[in-house]
Amino acid sequence: MLKLKAILAFVVTAVFLCAASAIAAPIVIKFSHVVAEDTPKGIMANKFRDLVAERLAGKVVVEVYPNSQLFGDTNEMEALLLGDVHLIAPALAKFQKYTPLLQIYDLPFLFKDMAAVDKFQQGPHGQAMIHSMKDKGIIGLGYLHNGFKVLSASDPIRLPSDAKNKKFRIMTSDVLAAQFEAVGAMPIKKPFSEVFTLLQTKAIDGAENPWSNLYSQKFYEVQSYITESNHGVLDYLVVSSSEFWEGLPADIRTVLEGCLKESIALGNKVSAQKDLEDKQKIIDSKRSQLITLTPEERQAWVEAMKPVWKKFEEAVGKENLAAAIAANN
Ligand code: LMR
Repeated sequence: MLKLKAILAFVVTAVFLCAASAIAAPIVIKFSHVVAEDTPKGIMANKFRDLVAERLAGKVVVEVYPNSQLFGDTNEMEALLLGDVHLIAPALAKFQKYTPLLQIYDLPFLFKDMAAVDKFQQGPHGQAMIHSMKDKGIIGLGYLHNGFKVLSASDPIRLPSDAKNKKFRIMTSDVLAAQFEAVGAMPIKKPFSEVFTLLQTKAIDGAENPWSNLYSQKFYEVQSYITESNHGVLDYLVVSSSEFWEGLPADIRTVLEGCLKESIALGNKVSAQKDLEDKQKIIDSKRSQLITLTPEERQAWVEAMKPVWKKFEEAVGKENLAAAIAANN
């Protein structure tokens, strides 16, 4: 009798263990980014996490790591390729090592507004660029807007000559380096996570960013002047590694793509609002003085910086450049 009971207990335990192991653990998607949560990218990432929690409950869990908490500018692409993180959304300027094409977005004064950026991105040339890093194992999943960049500095910058010999932090883009060199300034490539300290300690004189980054990173508290130059766009590409993304079960990937589409649409909507709201919050803070350029002053910047296009037209592709220019009409 005792022996029978022991056998029964063994069988029950074995069945229980088999059933438990049959319930698969959810797929974990780590989404790392370098900005604050209350920014277009931060809001997009959190929305993606929430949509996935609703639609793929028990199957997929998205973990979001903002503010360079997990990986930053210096290592996020390598981490993506190693599978240590699964989604990132770097600024387009940060893909230079993987494709020359996306540098088109860094060309100064190329797009007149976000409608033109959208038109180019959604057209055949912009869409083809999304897939330009496949051979490097990187899959582009969608563009995301932030806004147009303005110049912040410790001294007032009104004309290109005011920028001469000043040190400006830039992202890792040779186009951005050429843009500042064109006005006699000194570009310094540094990760985003270091910008506040560099500005605060006056190791550099200025930087370029859209309003949401200036506000959420408190750059305006350590920069006395902001010149509303709107000289270039700062957008992102949401990317994964081909190995991870294509290795997902097809039905799950389809749902994830839907969640990404919706969260990117929200991020884009928010980017337009944040641009206005965060600019106003900075003005209201009175910590930094806004410099509005006259049409003649702005034209002086266009004339000084536009020759950079010629230098990079081969790298970004002449046809792409023509399509980008045409998107303004
Ligand atoms: C920067 O490095 O200046 C920005 O690209 C950061 C970001 O992701 O908005």
